[in-house]
Order: sequence, then C-alpha cells, then structure tokens
Amino acid sequence: MGKQRILSGVQPTGNYHLGNYLGAIRNWVEAQSEYDNFFCVVDLHAITVPHNPAELAANTYTLAALYLACGLDLEYSTIFVQSHIPAHSELTWLFNCITPMNWLTDMIQFKEKSERQGENVSVGLLDYPVLMAADILLYKADKVPVGEDQKQHLELTRDIVNRFNHQFAKPENPVLKLPDPLIRKEGARVMSLVDGTKKMSKSDPSELSRINLLDPPDAIAKKIKKCKTDLVRGLTFDDPERPECNNLLTLYMLLAGKTKEEVAVECQDMGWGQFKPLLTETTINALKPIQEKYQQVMDDKGYLESVLRDGREKAQAIANQTLTQVKAAMGYSLP
Ligand code: AMP
Ligand code: TRP
Repeated sequence: MGKQRILSGVQPTGNYHLGNYLGAIRNWVEAQSEYDNFFCVVDLHAITVPHNPAELAANTYTLAALYLACGLDLEYSTIFVQSHIPAHSELTWLFNCITPMNWLTDMIQFKEKSERQGENVSVGLLDYPVLMAADILLYKADKVPVGEDQKQHLELTRDIVNRFNHQFAKPENPVLKLPDPLIRKEGARVMSLVDGTKKMSKSDPSELSRINLLDPPDAIAKKIKKCKTDLVRGLTFDDPERPECNNLLTLYMLLAGKTKEEVAVECQDMGWGQFKPLLTETTINALKPIQEKYQQVMDDKGYLESVLRDGREKAQAIANQTLTQVKAAMGYSLP
C-alpha cells in the first residue's frame, strides 16, 4: 500500500508567527517522511480580505521560503502556489453550486472576520471554505494537518464530499475522498502574548501580541518582556484562571523540545523574572536556524522559483485528473 496523502496550506498574508509554526508547519515537517505531502501557499485565500498586490507577491515568496526554512524536504514534500493551478478556482465554482448558503454563513471564522470588517465584506470571504475544500479534495488528501481554528472548515469539506458523492457518484465508486483533520493537542492553539484568551493571529493590530518567525532577537526579547503575566508565584499548566501562564509554559515546552512533566517540575517554583529570560533565550535559539536557512533561500531566487515550478507540475497533474473526474460526474464532457 502506498503512503497516505497530506495536504495543507497557509495564507501568504505576512506576519508568520509561532502559532503558524507550532500549530501547523512544524507538524508537517515532523511527519513528512511518513506521508506523500502537498503544501500549498494559498494565495487565492489571501485576497478574501482587502489586499495590496505588491505585498501579496512578496509574501508569497517569503512563505514558500519559510516552508523550506522550517524543514520541508523536497524528497517527501511538494511545495506549490495555489493560483498557479487553475483547477482550484474551477473546482470551487462547481462546489459553489452544490453548497447551501447557510453552511457558509454559519462558519465561525466568517462571522468573526465579517464582524470586524463591517460593510466591506466580499463574496470571496463567505466562499473561502469552499475554496479550501477544493484545495483538499483536488489532491484526494487523506489527512489535513491544521490548527484547531480550521476544524470547522474541515467539517464543511467533509459535508461537501458526502453531498457530492451522494448526488453524483455511486456508493461503491465515490469520486471524492473524505479527508480527516490532523490536529495535534499541543500547539494547536497558541494564544496572544497580550491576552491569553485570544489566539495569536496575523491580523492582530498589536505587534506585541505575536512572535513572528522572522523577528530578530531584540524584538523577541522585547515582546516577551512586555507580555501579559499574572501575580501568582510558581508556574503551572492548565489552570483556567491563568491562561497566559499555560500559554507561555506551552511555548517553552514546545520550543525547548521538553515534555510537559519536565517543564512542570522545572518551572513550579519559578517567578516570571526567572522564567521570561529562559523563554526568551529558548525562543531565539529555536528560531535561529530557521532564520538562517530562510536567508539562504531568499538569496537564491532562481532556486526558489525552480522549486515552485516543479511543485506546480507535480500538483497540477493530480489536480487536473480529479477535476476531470468531478466534471464527468456532473455531466460535463470533453469532445
Ligand atoms: P493562517 O494564519 O490562518 O493562514 O493559518 C495557517 C495555519 O496556522 C493553519 O493551520 C492554522 O490553523 C494555524 N494557526 C494559525 N494561528 C494559529 C494559532 N494561534 N495557534 C495554532 N495554530 C494556528
Ligand atoms: N484556511 C486555512 C487557514 O487560514 C488555510 C488553508 C487554505 C488550508 N486551504 C487549505 C489549510 C487547505 C489546509 C488545507 O489557516
């Protein structure tokens, strides 16, 4: 039996942060040798909120370079850009026509984002999860490694599969494959440094709320120095009254590569004055190799472009095959 297939992606909207790394990319890297992997820079998703063209172009390269810098290995993983493959847009249209409107208006992320944007909400923002379903289903992915916030979008993807197969395929010969989310418990929800009850997010207006993967050491030190803590002495995991404490200990655990038990013992008698420098040093050391590799990749644009060209070719062959099957099932045929 061949390897199971993985597909995942991040939007090239800048500010790539520890949540993206610990909730998603790091997990892709760790498991990559066990799977047949496709990792996409989802640049069509990036225009569902108002965007700047020059920034989109720059952020697309930055993110592809970060995929490599974080350790994706081309021996196991295909890296490509969503907009390079027209099948993503085309399949979205086909799925649009079988997706009930209320499935989309019910999505938590849509409700949150549209509330923030007021009047200026595009049809694209509403349709975002259908495009995500197309991303996943074109590659017949078995597993989709994401952070907790994407769970509902995965459920919608599964609903689309069931509806499509029910309407257009025979039970013994389904066209679309049901994917499973792959959500790791630890790191699935990295919280903001200024409010331990909110997730760390690219779009938080406060720079102090997140540590970006490309932050220089002095910025990391400043953000950790200023981050929100509490007045209790002794640091513990899982105290619902202390969300910041749980978040910072979890960051330390993941970035130091230690177990929860080790960290619980090490930090049980610490105060913040002792813990913060430790977290700072650990974070700087964990990000250093990523930042160095990133610089190497960015210094060789030709190489990065060749990676994306190869990725497009490999991904496109699979995507087009699925699109043809879907269209045939829906009654479209090529002469
Ligand atoms: P996005 O930033 O929305 O493009 O998300 C890219 C990936 O990072 C997705 O798999 C998200 O689930 C994951 N992610 C984003 N923010 C966080 C966070 N604060 N904690 C854990 N995972 C996150
Ligand atoms: N919606 C995802 C996010 O914001 C990004 C994404 C788009 C994605 N297409 C995907 C993730 C396909 C996994 C699989 O995080």
